Amino acid sequence: MKVRKIDIDFSTAKVYWTPATPEFAQFWNATSSYLPYLEPYLNRVVREGMNRLPESESQLREDCKIFVAQETQHYKNHAKFNRMLRESGYRDLADREAVMKADYERFFKEKDLRWNLGYAEGFETLGPILACYFLESAKELQAPDVDDPTADLWRWHLAEEYEHRHVCNYIYDAVTPGYWWRLYGIWYAGRHMFAYMIRTTLYLLEEDYRAARIPDRAKSRLRLAAAGGRMLKYVLPRVIKTMHPKYDPINIPVPERSMEVLAETERQWAKQTGE
Ligand SMILES: [Fe+2]
Ligand SMILES: [Fe+2]
Repeated sequence: MKVRKIDIDFSTAKVYWTPATPEFAQFWNATSSYLPYLEPYLNRVVREGMNRLPESESQLREDCKIFVAQETQHYKNHAKFNRMLRESGYRDLADREAVMKADYERFFKEKDLRWNLGYAEGFETLGPILACYFLESAKELQAPDVDDPTADLWRWHLAEEYEHRHVCNYIYDAVTPGYWWRLYGIWYAGRHMFAYMIRTTLYLLEEDYRAARIPDRAKSRLRLAAAGGRMLKYVLPRVIKTMHPKYDPINIPVPERSMEVLAETERQWAKQTGE
């Protein structure tokens, strides 16, 4: 695990960064839109959990610091992308984001640490599964015309989600252990996030139909259903496996090419530190 300082230039980025399947791009764009609220929340929760770790957990404490630094790099880059997205004809997007922002502020303020660690662990359980799906399985990304900084953003982000996959799980087990509560966290976080992601994808596409950026609504709906079906077929059985009492995220096999993706991201998008 390491911190990579990344600063992606989105000046050439397109909203439909998977041109043959704009619906796939819009699903991930919708997902990007709430990450600058989710990831700072995860960092607050992890910092609080870290302070409760026993003295002996020095390695995990170090991993927590890298986790926080990685998530910070993620949401800063997503915030840059999101500005471009908001300015591309999606007037209500900011209002939708505000609801998630308020939710995360409320969770941190009103819920206890067990609840918040459960949510964080729920999200981080889905992270490596989505990483494996994105890096290994999503055929929308294998099209030869996919060449966009936003694809790089997601490959790098998800490869690091895989890299720090154990952090929340291990803090949860060390600070507020409990099997059923962990399952509740997966269920609650999954439902909360997917409801937003799906509704926001539909909103973005609705604006696209209205502006005729996507001309054939019926064909678009079919592409969306096909892409969504393939993703669920990949993700759901893997989520069920994480519910095993002996689940340990460290054992998830490394997604193909993830180390190459990380090296390539640093080569192409490392932050320039100036003079
Ligand atoms: Fe992240
Ligand atoms: Fe993460």
